[in-house]
Amino acid sequence: MDLFEYQAKQLFQKHGVPVSLGEVATTPDEARAIAERLGGVTVVKAQVKIGGRGKAGGVKVAKTPDDARAHAEQILGMDIKGHTVHRVLVDPGADIKEEYYVSYLLDRANRTFLAMASYEGGMEIEQLAAERPDALAKVPVDALEGVDLAKGREIATQAKFPADLVDPVAEVLVKLWDTFVGEDATLVEVNPLARLGDGSVVALDGKVTLDDNADFRQADHAEFEDKAAADPLEQKAKEKHLNYVKLDGEVGIIGNGAGLVMSTLDVVAYAGEKHGGVKPANFLDIGGGASAEVMANGLDVILNDPSVRSVFVNVFGGITACDAVANGIVTALNMLGDEANKPLVVRLDGNNVVEGRRILTDAAHPLVTLVDTMDDAADKAAELAGSAR
Ligand SMILES: Nc1ncnc2c1ncn2[C@@H]1O[C@H](COP(=O)(O)OP(=O)(O)O)[C@@H](O)[C@H]1O
Ligand SMILES: [Mg+2]
Repeated sequence: MDLFEYQAKQLFQKHGVPVSLGEVATTPDEARAIAERLGGVTVVKAQVKIGGRGKAGGVKVAKTPDDARAHAEQILGMDIKGHTVHRVLVDPGADIKEEYYVSYLLDRANRTFLAMASYEGGMEIEQLAAERPDALAKVPVDALEGVDLAKGREIATQAKFPADLVDPVAEVLVKLWDTFVGEDATLVEVNPLARLGDGSVVALDGKVTLDDNADFRQADHAEFEDKAAADPLEQKAKEKHLNYVKLDGEVGIIGNGAGLVMSTLDVVAYAGEKHGGVKPANFLDIGGGASAEVMANGLDVILNDPSVRSVFVNVFGGITACDAVANGIVTALNMLGDEANKPLVVRLDGNNVVEGRRILTDAAHPLVTLVDTMDDAADKAAELAGSAR
């Protein structure tokens, strides 16, 4: 999960990284009130999960609370590279002398963590890496050793910070590493890290990507979720721990195993060409041990998608055998009752397939069509979706 700047800075603050952090407003009047409380010069900053806000006009200096109100009025609702601004951060204005760049990230290709830092900040990092690669230090960080003051100094020195800045920057690097590890992040980035008129070194911007795999031990992170932005079906699926992605077609898909579901999307898209161009409505992998409850949850999410016109259940019995899956489907349809109101095409194969098919045939549910092969089942599901248009 990517965080907003204000959330990233809250985490920085928690771990002792010096930040300039005001408050968030969703209306111009709130922005004015915050600027009044902060006093002096403030900066109104669009909160969207995309960089380059400054260049897009989403970061504006306000001399007075009235200025802050006017800027907020202009920035709220603005579209920045496809992201609508729903809130602004009103920060204390910083007296910037110099701007630098520092970050930590997971370097998958080299199977390590990587520190990146540059004395020459203020530029987009991609541009800096392309135009001035020698100005950007890239220092691997051993997961077990981490970043202590000595390592921080090594990074700052390689990034060509002048001698008097090496220690203050190293201190920030240590605390930023604490943030990276303590919050289970895969990226923390500060651009710019700024030196101010009083000599202090402060994070003026923050970008953090949290590792969702660590959610179970980071209960506090749930509050960072941007519920308003999430697709309601994806939200519901997430609450039920389903591996679901909403797509824009009409054929609902349920399968077991990510690979099988991916190929199911392909065959449905291919079959759909013959039936008025229908497409898959979602990706849903119910995984290996699909119980009746998981099947019911999956069907519940998919049947509540108004664009779904037919559902293709494509299961290859493995550890969970076809008879268990078939019982799961029958139980799920009973659990859902009248909510199950769209045709289901079921293809079962693999472990205990004969028994699985018998169970579905005997149940003779009016919505269920049993088809033996994946291609034929995809064609049937696409045909049903096409004719329901
Ligand atoms: N609190 C602040 N005080 C003064 N200037 C700021 C402040 N925050 C940001 N800026 C200036 O605005 C620029 C862009 O802001 P930043 O937060 O980095 O957004 P983005 O990276 O999305 O453009 C910064 O490089 C800095 O020069
Ligand atoms: Mg920035």
